[in-house]
Amino acid sequence: MSYALQVKGIRKAFGSVKANDGIDLAVRAGEIHAICGENGAGKSTLVGQLGGMLQPDEGEIIIGGKPELLVSAKEASRAGIGVLHQHFMLVEAFTALENIMLGAEPPSRVFLDSRGGEKEVGEICRKYGLGLDLKAKVSGLSVGAQQRIEIIKILYRGARIIILDEPTAVLTPQETESLFAIMRDLKQGGCAVLFISHKLKEVMDIADQVTVIRDGRTVGAWPIREVNEQFLASSMVGREVALTVKREEGVVPGKPVLELQGLTVKTGGLEQGARDISFHICEGEIFGVIGIAGNGQEALVEGILGIRKAASGRIVVEGSDVTNRIPKDYRTLSIGCIASDRLKEGLVKDFSVKDNAYLGYQRYAGLRRGPFLSGRRLADWTRSIVENYRVKTESPDTPITGLSGGNQQKLIIGRELSLSPKLLVAVQPTRGVDVGSIEFIHRNLLRHRNQGNAVLLVSQELEEVLSLSDRIGVLCGGQLMGIGRTEDFTKGQIGLMMAGVHHKGEAAEYA
Ligand SMILES: Nc1ncnc2c1ncn2[C@@H]1O[C@H](COP(=O)(O)OP(=O)(O)OP(=O)(O)O)[C@@H](O)[C@H]1O
Ligand SMILES: [Mg+2]
Repeated sequence: MSYALQVKGIRKAFGSVKANDGIDLAVRAGEIHAICGENGAGKSTLVGQLGGMLQPDEGEIIIGGKPELLVSAKEASRAGIGVLHQHFMLVEAFTALENIMLGAEPPSRVFLDSRGGEKEVGEICRKYGLGLDLKAKVSGLSVGAQQRIEIIKILYRGARIIILDEPTAVLTPQETESLFAIMRDLKQGGCAVLFISHKLKEVMDIADQVTVIRDGRTVGAWPIREVNEQFLASSMVGREVALTVKREEGVVPGKPVLELQGLTVKTGGLEQGARDISFHICEGEIFGVIGIAGNGQEALVEGILGIRKAASGRIVVEGSDVTNRIPKDYRTLSIGCIASDRLKEGLVKDFSVKDNAYLGYQRYAGLRRGPFLSGRRLADWTRSIVENYRVKTESPDTPITGLSGGNQQKLIIGRELSLSPKLLVAVQPTRGVDVGSIEFIHRNLLRHRNQGNAVLLVSQELEEVLSLSDRIGVLCGGQLMGIGRTEDFTKGQIGLMMAGVHHKGEAAEYA
């Protein structure tokens, strides 16, 4: 049987890094084909070559039985390949429709007229059930909606081979379900769908076939029914991996590190604020916040970090009232923060690995010699983060964009933990990292807690919050529906609270 897409012996190096070192892949039409591999295994590099953004050093890309040279994104698009990148590439100031039509050359017409385009785009939306306001500016749209624009953009260009590079990393579980429905439609329509994800449950759920790559090489390909999560994890990593880290009984909680007393944070526009939030986190405790995305998690975190003002209530850190007094460099209060959107908040895109490694620590005496930053100390500092947190990078001077997505995340975690902050705010800490690194990050969060620090964990991964947190609070509509020790809740009770049902319990203590 012929393949829609075949890749044979692809090699691609960046300087001395062999990002792809013998990749083989064969994808049929009407198939969802997953690619699994650790952070830095070479998945996005492969995608870059299939999308015409990168040129292979060696090897062949065969589309519909015909070897193709994809010298540009346009060529790839002409050959029927559409790529949804790991990071969105939309123009925020443009509308959805403008973004979709931007640079497209529909074969059916000589010049672009937006009316005709709108009709065609509308048809694609209907066919695939892609609900979207085409006149809305991208900057005001949710992540899920932005992703739908990217998908429509690809379909509008007539793609038959659709490549999704970690599309679900940024989605809520509900948005993931609707993306999967779209992917199944694409498959039914005879497209070949290439799906990259670190979430092995998703891979098991949606894929028909899976190819595993390790260190730039294809390890093997299997029909999905012949594999399981454990097998995939160990073939990716090359050793056995613990898929969940058990939370051993912790230290006895000490003094409160963070106390919120009726904190209310208002937001403008459609964003959910946070209302009358009270809880505390002690030394040696992980407190997990659970909730469907968009129920006030962001306002809560931004309020705690002083990014947004508290409209009422108090924030107390280690006994002092810091309400609306948290400085921009919250590190002086010994607060660390792993942000949710690494490229927007966590890292400076134009900086090197080293410059990102000490972001926010410019005034830390340990990095200075007299009035100046010390080059040697900065180099040592960076080296220790890179080594301890297994950040895969060619050198400290590599631009941060030369790191794979998961390795960028590991750098942030290393940086935020490096001075052992008394309070760590961890928002989606394992977003985009591979299974082995998830285990590693979980162990680090538990170690940090066992060293007597407080951790606020906010994550869309329910399993993650439940397995790591000593206590949890459930947010709905900006309010806490319940709060208590993790093991005191059943999954059913948690589900009800997420849906907005109040749970009488520990919360009363603070009423
Ligand atoms: N532009 C670049 N310059 C230098 N090195 C690069 C560049 N792009 C990628 N690399 C390196 O190539 C290797 C493979 O990176 P790639 O982004 O393909 O990994 P990945 O499998 O997509 O990982 P992740 O799961 O973290 O996204 C990494 O070691 C990375 O640092
Ligand atoms: Mg990648």
